[in-house]
Amino acid sequence: MTITADMTNELSPTRAGHAKPRRGAVSIDVLSKSFGSVKAVDGVSLSIEAGEFVALLGASGSGKSTLLMMIAGFETPSSGDIKLDGARINDLPSHRRGFGMVFQNYALFPHMTIAENIAYPLRRRGLGGSDVEREVANALKLVALDGYGARLPSQLSGGQQQRVALARALVFRPPLLLMDEPLGALDRKLRQQLQMEIKLIHKEVGSTIIFVTHDQEEALSMADRVAVLDRGRLQQFGLPRNLYEEPATAFVADFIGEMNFLPVELGRFGDAVAANSADLGQQMILQRERVFSHSDRGRLAVRPEYIRLEAHDDSNATVLESAYTGTNQTVLVRIGGLRLTARTPAVPGLPLFQSGQHVRVSIDTAHTRVFAAEP
Ligand SMILES: Nc1ncnc2c1ncn2[C@@H]1O[C@H](COP(=O)(O)OP(=O)(O)OP(=O)(O)O)[C@@H](O)[C@H]1O
Ligand SMILES: [Mg+2]
Repeated sequence: MTITADMTNELSPTRAGHAKPRRGAVSIDVLSKSFGSVKAVDGVSLSIEAGEFVALLGASGSGKSTLLMMIAGFETPSSGDIKLDGARINDLPSHRRGFGMVFQNYALFPHMTIAENIAYPLRRRGLGGSDVEREVANALKLVALDGYGARLPSQLSGGQQQRVALARALVFRPPLLLMDEPLGALDRKLRQQLQMEIKLIHKEVGSTIIFVTHDQEEALSMADRVAVLDRGRLQQFGLPRNLYEEPATAFVADFIGEMNFLPVELGRFGDAVAANSADLGQQMILQRERVFSHSDRGRLAVRPEYIRLEAHDDSNATVLESAYTGTNQTVLVRIGGLRLTARTPAVPGLPLFQSGQHVRVSIDTAHTRVFAAEP
């Protein structure tokens, strides 16, 4: 059996009517990497299922590439384990891991045609003749570049070259595809187009994908699950919706989407918690599981869409600025020493909020959480 046929079989779990275990499950156990005194990756544990599309999201320097390089085998962990389908691969050299890789500006071989570039990983695996031709043709079709095989990389646009790099990484049907900001150098439109294509290709090929990006929109829209890193530490690993609706830490709450933070004093209220905001002049009652602060102070986190505004002449809250965006109006309000951003539906026929207007502010406590106060 050729490698290709073998792989195809493994990638089609429902073929022949019964499920075969898929390959490409990655488990990362308390993995760390230090460069001198810098802890680039600090005790990260992640369990990624076979066939899953996972994004590693974080600001510059948060350790995304270092984590990916350790999975790829280009960096040696300082401590911890990396497992593929249950087997420890820490000491397996990169070229024996058999992963596909696409990096930002990952160079194609300039002297080889597109077809030769894509054929390269197959030939290295001992495949030849019509098998290679067929697989290259399929890969070109997958990235919507059929007919481009005879060109040289220099005769393609940046986005097309990036698609060739993707085809080259996918042609041998790796169980795991690692991508480090593969779309970083592309303009917005091309980027969005390729994001969609990569999602489609993922559905078609079924490889596990670990995709590094610092763009939260890209991470949330592409991945099944997103791992948020901050200074080498895993902050949260979850579904995009969970990150947005149920952030586990103040960092995630702030990093994903828009968030208002209000300083509050905390006290007991029967089984619940009372959060007092001096700025709002209000007491809010929260379920205990929404409060992550263990002291009598905290920061209440509320998204703009959960702040309600009502026109009210006697209120001490004032509209500073507003922006109308068709379906919504985003309103910046000053109340006490705070500035809050609220987003309210713009109802056709009803008046919009205006600068200088006094408004009453209320907060939907079912959608807020309280994190520890800043030290
Ligand atoms: N080879 C190295 N030697 C020393 N320090 C390093 C090395 N590689 C990375 N670092 C440091 O480790 C930390 C994490 O770097 P890493 O490249 O993993 O971040 P990143 O999240 O990929 O950032 P970016 O979004 O800018 O690519 C940074 O502080 C970086 O300076
Ligand atoms: Mg990086």
